[in-house]
Amino acid sequence: MKIAVIGGAGYIGSHTVRELLDRGHEIAVYDNLSSGMEQNLFENASFTKGDILDTYSLNQFLEKEAPEGLVHLAAFKAAGESMTNPEKYSVNNITGSLNILNAACANKVKYIVFSSSAAVYGSPQYMPVDEKHPTSPENYYGYTKLSIENFLQWYDKLRGIRFAALRYFNAAGYDVKGRITGLEKNPANLIPVVMEAAEGKRKEVLVFGNDYDTKDGTGIRDYIHVNDLAIGHGMAFDYLQKTNKSLIVNLGTQSGASVLDIINATEKVSGKKVPYRIVERRPGDPASLIANPAKAKEVLGWEAKYSSIETIIKTTWNAYQANEK
Ligand code: WQD
Repeated sequence: MKIAVIGGAGYIGSHTVRELLDRGHEIAVYDNLSSGMEQNLFENASFTKGDILDTYSLNQFLEKEAPEGLVHLAAFKAAGESMTNPEKYSVNNITGSLNILNAACANKVKYIVFSSSAAVYGSPQYMPVDEKHPTSPENYYGYTKLSIENFLQWYDKLRGIRFAALRYFNAAGYDVKGRITGLEKNPANLIPVVMEAAEGKRKEVLVFGNDYDTKDGTGIRDYIHVNDLAIGHGMAFDYLQKTNKSLIVNLGTQSGASVLDIINATEKVSGKKVPYRIVERRPGDPASLIANPAKAKEVLGWEAKYSSIETIIKTTWNAYQANEK
């Protein structure tokens, strides 16, 4: 199938392009390179530089490439920033996504795979979290993701465009075959921050609270390897093509790791000390957030294969080291 990957030069986008190419799909990437990078592109995937807020170039791209499928990975994802600069998230995530949806309809795209997030659930009322869990996002980023899911439901009903919304838990790791090594610029997520501290590029990791009701007091998350996420996208397209039915699923491992687990694993893998300091909790952080991925296994046959903390930390450290040379 010909698939357009919007945001395909980014961290998750490039891993998804790699997987879809390996599955034999023809890929056209559209990215404004605001956070994505050219080093993440593959020569056997076409590339068009463009912004999802530029409806003219977005429509030109889809008209020219005429894809059957489309992956939308071009949303901003910093939960904290979304609370201090909601306008930026309204424009890029909501207006931008509606531009994509309208351009997809105008150019007869049949299937959309959307990068959604566990942030749609807000603080978990029970664990592990399944897709029946109430969706009450506690940050504006999560609200934009839920809004886009709702737009997709309507466009399914009114335009027959089928979608798969993949609710990622904490995306982490780097390609196990080492084919992708582009590092995120100014990261806010835990693992890249820990890597920078291990390399001495950052003075210390600020640990946002150690008084949570968890095994060591620090926050627990369900870290999912980006290769596993990418495989989920490939399976989602197979599902959409086979059933012509839309789908919402969690992609997670049903196992959790604490902030201190991540720091300890990084020290073990890298042989470096990771300086850290316990500070105040970050507002909006739940103590734990762990996925129930049973539906993805049942409906897609998907399950995490590369998401052990050791593999996640090893592949990430390798990517950081590759940038040192
Ligand atoms: C993980 C844990 C922090 C940084 C994010 C966003 C969004 C989503 C998933 C895609 C928490 C702690 C973190 C630091 C710390 N992405 N932490 N010091 O907040 O679980 O979710 O990723 O959908 O980007 O919702 O990820 O990596 O920020 O935090 O102590 O400098 O690490 O408190 O317990 P989060 P995170």
